Amino acid sequence: MRKFIIGGNWKCQVTIVEEAVSIATEIAKEINDILTENVEVFIAPSYNALYSVGQVIKGTKLKLAGQNMYFRDKGAFTGEISPDSLLDAGCEYVILGHSERRRIFGETDSYINQKVKKALEKGLKPVLCIGETAKEKEEGQTETVIQTQIENSLADIPQEQLNQIIIAYEPVWAIDNKFLNPDSEIKTATPEEAEKIHVFIRKLLINKFGDNVGKNILIQYGGSMKASNCEGLLNIADINGGLIGGASLSAEKFKPIIEAAIKLGK
Ligand code: PGA
Repeated sequence: MRKFIIGGNWKCQVTIVEEAVSIATEIAKEINDILTENVEVFIAPSYNALYSVGQVIKGTKLKLAGQNMYFRDKGAFTGEISPDSLLDAGCEYVILGHSERRRIFGETDSYINQKVKKALEKGLKPVLCIGETAKEKEEGQTETVIQTQIENSLADIPQEQLNQIIIAYEPVWAIDNKFLNPDSEIKTATPEEAEKIHVFIRKLLINKFGDNVGKNILIQYGGSMKASNCEGLLNIADINGGLIGGASLSAEKFKPIIEAAIKLGK
């Protein structure tokens, strides 16, 4: 039986609490009864809606995630969000090192590493995002970029906490983001392209953390995953789920991806 984790990353797309509550209500209604034990689903609304969405999905199988987090508990850090605030809202997961954080807001691997450690210390499951840009891909740098991101972002993590980590491989060129990809056409990785990198990541994790841990870390694919392409991607052995932006913004678009995971997980 394969295990999948499907995440909805709402980014800064749903700005009004009422709207977030309505989408979450619809998603919970559509998927709660069909979700199986081996498919986990989380949604990551904006901070303003975290608590309300948390209340909506409380008692359902849906999980809540933060989109980012600071690596200190509290203090004079204007504009940041504390891990305790995420926990208070009901979060179980936190997305860290998303390429929009790295490329637009200048987050570095060592900064992200501190966040990963803090999340683990607090009992939040980090979804660590990695991925190369179109330029890095063209220059044949993909594997080097990914290896560096993994090694630095996961430096000095206690062995017993490693099984809490999820990796999201999100090639930047595949993310539906005109800001990050102003000059290139955005296209989803083909199953072959994605498979090559997922196999590479799996080997890297096994080399770094040993068979036991490395084989079991879930690796999501992200970047324009949607109903029409999800099955081909999720079918690949080392793709253990998806991190979905645009196609997680309505139950209608999100549900078919979850259904594909349920089908493949049987
Ligand atoms: P997308 O975003 O599905 O809209 O391409 C994915 C992500 O950035 O997590």
